[in-house]
Amino acid sequence: MNAMVTFTKQGPIAEALVDNPPVNATSAGVRQGLVDAVRQFEADPELKVLILRCAGRTFIAGADIKEFGKPMVGPNLTEAIAMLDGASKPVIAAVHGTVLGGGFEVALACHYRIADPATRFGFPEVKLGLLPGAGGTQRTPRLAGLATTIELVTTGKQINAKKALESGLIDRIAEGDLAAAAHAYATELAAAGTGPRSAGDLPMPEDDAALFADARKSLARSMRGQTAPLLALEAIRLGYDYPFAEALEREYAMCKEAIAGPQSKALRHVFAAEREVARIPDLPADVTAREVKSVGVIGLGVMGRGIVMAIAAAGIPVVAVGLDDEHVAKAMGAIEKMWGSTVKKGRMSQEQLDRQLALITRSTNVADLGSVDLVIEAVTEDLATKEKVFAELGKATRPGTILASNTSFLNIEKLADASGRAEDVCGMHFFNPANVMRLLENVRAERTDPAVVATIMDFGKRIGKLSVLSGVCDGFIVNRMLSKRSREGFFLVEEGAAPSVVDKAVSGFGFPMGPFALGDLAGLDVQAAARKSRAASASPRELRADFVEQMVAQGNLGQKTGSGWYTYDENRKASHNPATDAMIAAHAEKHGLSLREIGEQETIERLVYAMVNEGAKILSEGVAARPQDIDVAMINGLGFPAYTGGPLFWADQIGLDKVLARIEEFREQHGDAYWTPAPLLVERAKAGQGFYA
Ligand code: 3HC
Repeated sequence: MNAMVTFTKQGPIAEALVDNPPVNATSAGVRQGLVDAVRQFEADPELKVLILRCAGRTFIAGADIKEFGKPMVGPNLTEAIAMLDGASKPVIAAVHGTVLGGGFEVALACHYRIADPATRFGFPEVKLGLLPGAGGTQRTPRLAGLATTIELVTTGKQINAKKALESGLIDRIAEGDLAAAAHAYATELAAAGTGPRSAGDLPMPEDDAALFADARKSLARSMRGQTAPLLALEAIRLGYDYPFAEALEREYAMCKEAIAGPQSKALRHVFAAEREVARIPDLPADVTAREVKSVGVIGLGVMGRGIVMAIAAAGIPVVAVGLDDEHVAKAMGAIEKMWGSTVKKGRMSQEQLDRQLALITRSTNVADLGSVDLVIEAVTEDLATKEKVFAELGKATRPGTILASNTSFLNIEKLADASGRAEDVCGMHFFNPANVMRLLENVRAERTDPAVVATIMDFGKRIGKLSVLSGVCDGFIVNRMLSKRSREGFFLVEEGAAPSVVDKAVSGFGFPMGPFALGDLAGLDVQAAARKSRAASASPRELRADFVEQMVAQGNLGQKTGSGWYTYDENRKASHNPATDAMIAAHAEKHGLSLREIGEQETIERLVYAMVNEGAKILSEGVAARPQDIDVAMINGLGFPAYTGGPLFWADQIGLDKVLARIEEFREQHGDAYWTPAPLLVERAKAGQGFYA
């Protein structure tokens, strides 16, 4: 027996225990071990029932992603699964933790299933650009019906043990110890002489064309641009068109094809990159994170409230400090309203809401932050105001209390100076809405203590965020790259592109929305303020493209006033705004600009290559330690489509020589100020390399 699967016997009951840390993926050794276990079980007439269980924190969490794209060693997963399914005596899967992908498929191929009550089940394959390839799309509908199957295999959403039991995907929920409960189940089956049973012997549920049509429509919207969800949906249909065994073969072939495709390659890169960014390469090995038992948030505007919510929702006490009683009451009212509506929608219990609210202490006094371990500052985005707050915080808090600013672009070094405790100061830049958005851009300044860096990276994880570390620069990673896209967007409009056409091209590329729709959503006043703060270093051309200032001067601030680049109805549905056309025409006339047609390809290249070029600068300056930090930040902060792998991975796939050649053309047309290629890009392109080694 191999080291990853041990086979033991106790009377008529055998147990195959998979032990392949960290998540018991079906690596070659596990697949071989499963095949061997079934053979041993079959060969011993004394044995009546086989239990399949896993050691460690979870049942099998899927196929081994690290083996994808490499030659198959030993039996493949479908062969191991066929052995389990075809066993002549009953096999019970005893599952716990996260039963995902190939792991779920292994469980479904077993004849009976018992689960620990906290188990979660799902098919995350679509998130990796592929589809279940070992029977998931064929056994699930036979056990749970079409609606549940479509939901599970096309969205990657997980269900809990209760839902799995109700849907017929498992037979029992264990009370008490899982191993003991599985043994009792096996003893029962052995005593009753119950035989094996195979999901493949069940008929497919009745076909439902409308359900498939609805799913296609809704996936085209919710998983826009992604190929895998629709493939997964079509794979379910194999069950109607072919006998079970043939449907399995075809499903496997579809999965293999998807694995070889560009989207899966990109999404697997993202999976690995998201884990890589948690590791900070230059932190001393012996550094330990500081303990964070309670947090303070100062400034209770939209960002501050969202941060308070994120912290309390993670079960951590938080002191919420506002300007005065009125501000605090307004902020708390807004928080209660938002959580209240979550309760109304049935997504949170009233008890949970009460627990979260009880974790928030209201205050108007900085002195109340004297006992917290971390303060996150979220006051007005103005350097002088923030410096004042940091000076106060330096005095009001204990030495060792981490002082973090939520600024999206201001210089953290200046706040460090103001605090008098530079080693404790860092940035923690949340994205709006802070309680929802997954990205947390942590910022390390020159003098930030390594222990502070370790603490804020850990803390991000504790509150359910994906933390990426950035160095200090204007806009950090995401906003610095975004500012280049915005600038190029204004130039495109000056040259003749209609904002709606630009937005359409950008959405077509895979972003959730284009730059102009985003400007309207965020507020044109916010954008105007950011432009103003950078005006001193802006070029005449940037200053001339003053569309945002023009709209703000008219009182048109975007969605919140019902008018901006677009007009909005009371449900915030956007329509064409004739005033925008008039503004662009008048602007062209005033400045003697000639307008031209700009194609979709040029639009995308101008907007996205501008970001890639800036990304290369960020990388060579060391603001981001690795290309992964940039890709992960841009996907999760700006909605850069994950299935491209992020801006730098995407550029690598195109070829940096081609990207550079286009940038050189834009430089000819628009000048050095905007299109000087980053030295790193030139160097890598000339060497025939990518951003990734
Ligand atoms: N294969 C290989 N390694 C895996 C893996 C997998 N399926 N799943 C997780 N890992 C690795 C991670 O890379 C990480 O390694 P690292 O420490 O070197 O970075 C380690 O396991 C721990 O993972 P997490 O940091 O993600 O740990 P969490 O506790 O936060 O999450 C998890 C655990 C929920 C299991 C999460 O890892 C996860 O969602 N994994 C992916 C599961 C998945 O996508 N399964 C489907 C695979 S495709 C498939 O099965 C195809 C089939 O249909 C044929």
